[in-house]
This record gives sequence, C-alpha cells and structure tokens, in this order.
Amino acid sequence: EAVARAGYQHLMLKEIHEQPRIIRNIIQRKQSAWLPGDSFGETTCGVLLIGCGSSYHACLAGKILIERLSGIQANAELATELFDVTGSTRRYRAVIGLSQSGETADTCAALDRQRQAGFYTVAVSNVPGSRITRLAEQTILTDAGPEMSVAATKSFTAQLVTLLNMGLALPLKEPKRALDLTGELRALPARLQRILDREDAHASAARWLASFKNIICIGRGIFLPIALECALKLKEITYIHAEGCAAGELKHGTLALLSPVTPVIAFMGTDETRAQMLTAIREVKARGVPVLAIAPEGEEDLEDLADRVILLPRTDPLLQPVLAAAAAQMLAYHAALSLNLPIDNPRNLAKSVTVE
Ligand code: G6P
Repeated sequence: EAVARAGYQHLMLKEIHEQPRIIRNIIQRKQSAWLPGDSFGETTCGVLLIGCGSSYHACLAGKILIERLSGIQANAELATELFDVTGSTRRYRAVIGLSQSGETADTCAALDRQRQAGFYTVAVSNVPGSRITRLAEQTILTDAGPEMSVAATKSFTAQLVTLLNMGLALPLKEPKRALDLTGELRALPARLQRILDREDAHASAARWLASFKNIICIGRGIFLPIALECALKLKEITYIHAEGCAAGELKHGTLALLSPVTPVIAFMGTDETRAQMLTAIREVKARGVPVLAIAPEGEEDLEDLADRVILLPRTDPLLQPVLAAAAAQMLAYHAALSLNLPIDNPRNLAKSVTVE
C-alpha cells in the first residue's frame, strides 16, 4: 500500500492531488456524438441519469449541465429508487448509468431493467470492461485511473467534466457557449491546482469543522449536488453527522436544527443563485449560526458576513462546481485527519457494493 500512496499519507490525498492531471486529459479528448436520434418522436422527454452515492450527485449536476448547454431535458434519479421500468410515463432517448466502479449492483440492475424495457443505455464508468460497460449499448469512460480510497474524489470530478463534455457534444442552445467554455476548461487544471496548493487554509477550516457534531451543507442550482457531496464526504470519513440541504429549503425545516453548535457550509455560485445564497447566509447568521462560506474570488465581502471564508479561483458558472468539489474533499480529508480516523477505509463502507 505504501507504493500505491506514492509518498502521500493517504490514498485519498493522493487521489485528490491527481485531479488536475486527470481533468487535463479529459478535456483534451473531444466527446463524439453519443445521443441516438429521437425514436420516440414527440413524446420523448430527454435523458435520464442514474447512479448511487457520489455518482448520483454527479447525475444531479449532469442534469443541469446537459439542460443548460443543450436544452435537452434531463432527469436524475437514484438507481436504488428507479421503479418505473415500463416506460409508460416517460420515454427517454437514453438512460445514462453513472458508476465509478461499474460494479454497483443497484445501478447495473436498474440500467439493465431500462435496457430490457427498450431504452438506449449509456454507461459512464471509470473502469473499462466493468459490468455496467458490458450491459450498456454504449460506454463513455471517465479515465480517472484506479480509485482505491473508499470515498470517491477524483472519479467524481472526472464524472463532472465528462458530463460537461457530453453536454458539449449535443446540439447546443448557444453554439458560442462552447467557445467560452473551451478557454475556461483549459485553465481549469491550473485553477484546481491552486486550491490543492492551499492545504493550510483548508486544514485550518477543517480542524474547526471537526469540533462540531452536526454540520449542514447548503447550495442552490448546480451547487446543491456539491453541498450533498460535501455532506456525504463528511459522513463517510469524519463520521460527523452532515446533511446537504437546498439553501431555499432551509426555512422549510432544517433551520430548526441550526444553532451556535451546528454550523453551515455554504457553497456560493457565480450564477443567478448568488443573491439567493447571500440571503440564505444572512438568514442563518441572524440566528447566531457559524458559517463557512466557500466562494469564488471576488466575494471578499463575505468575510464581513461569514465566520470563515475559503475563496476559490473564479471560472465559468458551469465549471465552478468542480473547484468547489475539490475544496469540499480537502475539508473532509483534513477534518478526518485531525480526528485521527481511518480515512481510506471508513467503518461499514465498501468501495463498491456488488449486492442489491
Ligand atoms: C459505494 C462507495 C461510494 C460510491 C458508491 C457508488 O457506496 O463507497 O463512494 O459513490 O458506492 O459507486 P459507483 O462505483 O457506482 O460510482
């Protein structure tokens, strides 16, 4: 295992640090057309993305990426909750199964049921030749290399960038958008590296987070999947009870849980959700709740509002979540490190769950 860690203290940290290189490789590949023609005619309702765990969170982000870029309707569902196999209510042009390992039984079974119901299936997996790639009509590889730490890191950001590439390979709503994104994509690995180089800032915020028993992560739009993923990372490796919550939903229940000992991690976007996130942070602060804001550079004013702020390089609103995800991974890693937990092999969890 020492060889696999390649000088890093944990596999998870090594895998986090591999991300700039992996993303550079993914963006150099041009995704070819992957969506078959509309065989259902007018009744079609776009594509369905399914997965479990972190892969499901990538599905939620993928839904937004595909819809924003192409205007093609996309839905995301937990593979474990997908019961409609008749296709009677929805006629998807493709059902896309996301699975890092390609072996998750629930995802494979759900995708197989969709295939048998006559839908065109696409596997998005990190492992060539895995079960999901064998059962789907088409495979798109995320090429993040073997991921060994139980908590998904590099495979998650690789899924996000792969889904963005898949979105760009569809007929675009605004063809000019592809050009804007090309430059931003090229700059993404270096921006991600800048986050990884700021280990101290993350470690200090993480030590603070590790002193709490409950944490609520909030986001809106494409940052909601990142808030959910942040909460999942915290649960998996720090054993802190963490919940991801849509920022706008706080007032419908979760606000009752917040207190000076239950902080909020707020993921700020650069898009139209920004103003609403500021409102949510103000609402929370007014109740004496500690806030860690994770925001793009240019949001320095947040320092007057939030207790702690981690500023990330600023990029296109559709790429900003990749940077926010990396920050969330670093926070969870350093929180678990400060708690002296078995980061690469958390209790009760397996890297891939091959039973339904
Ligand atoms: C397990 C892992 C998670 C992962 C999930 C789905 O629960 O511990 O990290 O997100 O399975 O795995 P998959 O290989 O299908 O992406």
